[in-house]
Amino acid sequence: MGTAIVVTSGKGGVGKSTVSLGLAARFAETGERVLLIDCDAGLRSLDRMTGTEETLVFDSSDVVAGRCAPAEAIYPCAAMPGVSLLPAPQNGEDLVPAHVMRRLVPMLKRYFDRVILDSPAGVGRGFRAAAAAADGALIVCSPDPVCIRDASIVRRLLLEIGVEKQRLIINRFQNTYFRRIAAAEDGAAHGVCRDLDDVIDQSGVRLIGVVPEDPKLAAAFARGHLPPVDAPGFMALSRIAARVGGTPVPIGI
Ligand SMILES: Nc1ncnc2c1ncn2[C@@H]1O[C@H](COP(=O)(O)OP(=O)(O)O)[C@@H](O)[C@H]1O
Ligand SMILES: [Mg+2]
Repeated sequence: MGTAIVVTSGKGGVGKSTVSLGLAARFAETGERVLLIDCDAGLRSLDRMTGTEETLVFDSSDVVAGRCAPAEAIYPCAAMPGVSLLPAPQNGEDLVPAHVMRRLVPMLKRYFDRVILDSPAGVGRGFRAAAAAADGALIVCSPDPVCIRDASIVRRLLLEIGVEKQRLIINRFQNTYFRRIAAAEDGAAHGVCRDLDDVIDQSGVRLIGVVPEDPKLAAAFARGHLPPVDAPGFMALSRIAARVGGTPVPIGI
């Protein structure tokens, strides 16, 4: 029986899909069978990022409507061995509801070691559906105050849904970030985080990893390819995958 993790954030554009896909590729490298579920109905992206866009016929809404069997809507990603994708519907109206996710995901966990649910932005129906059947959550956040406040709201909502295992991933981190904050005269006065400890304190979630800003990671996924093994962001995702799997590797910032 596999495990289901929701990758979520509240705020849009912080890197949920990038982290979901990077982790999927890293888990698959260790021999796990990984299923990515794109939960962003209407704004799907993992089809493009996995290079499967041209091959798709069915999506999750077809499974729900009984137009195909679940296996017919699951596509192996040729460019990413061991990773498969259940695409999101192109129409936002066709969102798979939470009560269906609670039936579908446990069934899929019988066939996959790891199910990664890539949540849409926001805290509405899409977020709730993505989290409904998750065994744990990875909350993706950048060090800016608005994103951290969203992460803390998401943390509380996940607890209400019953997702108690939560870890924080800081994405698009730049070494100069906190130095620039320190140089700004009024940084402290506005509750801006001054270091990573501040981010953890303000979000209320335990840190599991930091992914640097990495144009190589972004460029590869934009073309549906795997990033080079030495891309710093991809290396960070490898360490996070190990830590999610219980191996005590250092966070390594
Ligand atoms: N670590 C990173 N380094 C550089 N660019 C990144 C990184 N993470 C995400 N991005 C870029 O940020 C944008 C939003 O990422 P995406 O994963 O689509 O966010 P979300 O799923 O949260 O909306 C994309 O253009 C992506 O390539
Ligand atoms: Mg996304």
